[in-house]
Amino acid sequence: MSDPKKKYPEAYEICEKFILNKQHMDEIVYRLTKEINMGLTRDTHPRATVKCFVTYVQELPTGKERGKYLALDLGGTNFRVLLVNLINEKDIDITGKTYAISKELQEGPGIKLFDFIASCLAEFCKENKMDQSNTPLGFTFSFPCKQVGIDNGTLVAWTKGFKAEGVVNQNVVELLRDAIKRRGDFKVNVVAILNDTTGTLMSCAFNHRNCKIGMIVGTGSNACYVEKTANTETFDGYQNSTKPNMIINCEWGAFGDNGVLDFIRTPYDHQVDKQSINPKKQIFEKCISGMYMGELVRLVLLELMEKQVIFKGQTSQSFLIKGKFDTSFITEIESDQPGSHRNAAMVMDRLGIRTNNEKDLECLRFICETISTRSARLAACGLVCLINKMNVKELTVGIDGSVYRYHPHYHRLLTENMNMLLKGSVKFELVLSEDGSGRGAALIAAVCAK
Ligand code: GLC
Repeated sequence: MSDPKKKYPEAYEICEKFILNKQHMDEIVYRLTKEINMGLTRDTHPRATVKCFVTYVQELPTGKERGKYLALDLGGTNFRVLLVNLINEKDIDITGKTYAISKELQEGPGIKLFDFIASCLAEFCKENKMDQSNTPLGFTFSFPCKQVGIDNGTLVAWTKGFKAEGVVNQNVVELLRDAIKRRGDFKVNVVAILNDTTGTLMSCAFNHRNCKIGMIVGTGSNACYVEKTANTETFDGYQNSTKPNMIINCEWGAFGDNGVLDFIRTPYDHQVDKQSINPKKQIFEKCISGMYMGELVRLVLLELMEKQVIFKGQTSQSFLIKGKFDTSFITEIESDQPGSHRNAAMVMDRLGIRTNNEKDLECLRFICETISTRSARLAACGLVCLINKMNVKELTVGIDGSVYRYHPHYHRLLTENMNMLLKGSVKFELVLSEDGSGRGAALIAAVCAK
């Protein structure tokens, strides 16, 4: 592409604010390391922003796990019930059903949310003739939870647009069991609660024994990794556990909630934060994840439209509405072959702006690239921080989430930036982890049932 600075100076001036150089990135790795250590340490844990929750998952799958398990997956706009059959090392059969979680359920009384979950589960169990089987169930609940056992997790705060009342500070496993009891028409055995990152790590480790990190870049962003049990001070048995390892759910989305990322935040980040339902929370996540990337692009475009320097100053009703520029549009626009602006023009058309002005569409792509590159660079900082912390020279990273899965260049961007930041030679492989929330939940249930 020709020099964007010359071609669209106004857009460049804005986008420049989102560019992270090596120095910024080194500083981010340094600061995140510090926050993670605070989360792990008993004395500093209560005031730490990156909580580093102990997951009580101390064993990775061996590949020998077998049997039928149920999994629930709650963490975004969809809720899923799955039946996972671990047949052998190669064959895992998954059947499932997806249900939409309406805005009313996300934001209304928690008891309704759990009644809904239980009703979906009841329907599914009946359809699959397992309503009286007491099948072990793994509950993938992808929000920050303080765990005191594998089947005991207290919600610390909602993230990603949820705010159902009466759930924060409650043990969500109990809420689920209570909702099942209220119905009384089926029996399952809730054996574990887990985060989607943990599920992703487990699912990947089933086939890649050297998997040590699970990361999500989807609606939200977070990672978990394998820590030495001896370093997990918030775990009561940390000094005398017979098991050497413990998976830690970092909850890195909250990195920056104490201001340590303000040096890289732009006015657009501040606006996205202000208009969110959880202002001043999940600052790192708001710079990285799919729930916010599209909105950042929309805000930048809106400013350029108002300055009349793009799309002939045209705007549309759609464009004025928060959230109208979906993150999937970024993926579509960046999937255009070089020199083509087909998807870009289509996206704009859908938003009520008809144009085939090449320069404007190229500029639009440049803005999208700016936002996705920053996201990938930040995620790379996170991964590098964890790799340095574990001090390993070779590993696999299991990754899932819509941004990683569908964005055409995200994998490459992550790889390039990690190579730039890692000191010494570290051999890493980034692998798309298949259905961590389902397979991973089943594997944990299997390890628990053992
Ligand atoms: C949010 C949640 C976290 C989850 C992540 C990805 O950050 O707090 O628990 O892992 O989204 O879904």
